[in-house]
Amino acid sequence: MSSKKCSTSTSIGKKQIMGVTGLLLCGFVLTHLLGNLTLLIGSDAFNKYSHALTSNPLIYVAEVGLLALFLSHIVMAIKLTIENKKARPIAYHTYTKSGRGGDFASKSMAISGLITLIFLIIHITGLKFGTHYDTTVGGIEMRDIYKTTVEYFADPIHVVIYLVAVITLGVHVSHGFWSAFQSLGLNHPKYMSKIELASKLFGVVIAVGFSALAIFCFTRGGH
Ligand code: HEM
Repeated sequence: MSSKKCSTSTSIGKKQIMGVTGLLLCGFVLTHLLGNLTLLIGSDAFNKYSHALTSNPLIYVAEVGLLALFLSHIVMAIKLTIENKKARPIAYHTYTKSGRGGDFASKSMAISGLITLIFLIIHITGLKFGTHYDTTVGGIEMRDIYKTTVEYFADPIHVVIYLVAVITLGVHVSHGFWSAFQSLGLNHPKYMSKIELASKLFGVVIAVGFSALAIFCFTRGGH
């Protein structure tokens, strides 16, 4: 009896951590998408944007914070998945109560999360740690990350990998955003249908926005 109580309270803590880290990661992904839109303006705009971020000494704090967010989100997800497998009926009941438990996005959270993690490793290796070129914009020497990016997307295999990954990420956040509100206890029946709609729209914006950027870069033909 007492051990049951204990496991329920730790599950609530983990779900809340999942919810908070998930929402913060959604914020990061949206900011990243908006910042990357400077690619559409041209090389100088994108290089200046990237240089402003990477030359700020606070970038190291931001990067450590981001890494901590990803790691806590992943560790909590693994722990909750193991707990849910051990106590299946209780875990699934929480999700199915609202009618959202049966859809594809909610059932595929673990696999879509894993695909996103693999994508992140490929993404950071290919761009952040990709080929380094230098350029000068407005008299300031900086990394030509625009050249690295458009060269990378000149390879159709990279574009296909990105399309699969960002559509998967869109599916992941289309449930995750909504689910975070549930986990944080912000599931007032009056607002849940609006949050559900916002969640789906967010997923579409992420999938379509990043796909459009990958396709745009491909159309540059490496220049
Ligand atoms: C077409 C889609 C995307 C493009 C063109 C793009 C572009 C970039 C570039 C150029 C960098 C290196 C920035 C620099 O070092 O100056 C970067 C870093 C990064 N991107 Fe993306 N990105 C895309 C999609 C995504 C997605 C979908 C995610 C999240 C799942 C993501 C997460 C990250 C992370 C975590 C970093 C490292 C940030 C850091 O260490 O400061 N990116 N991205």
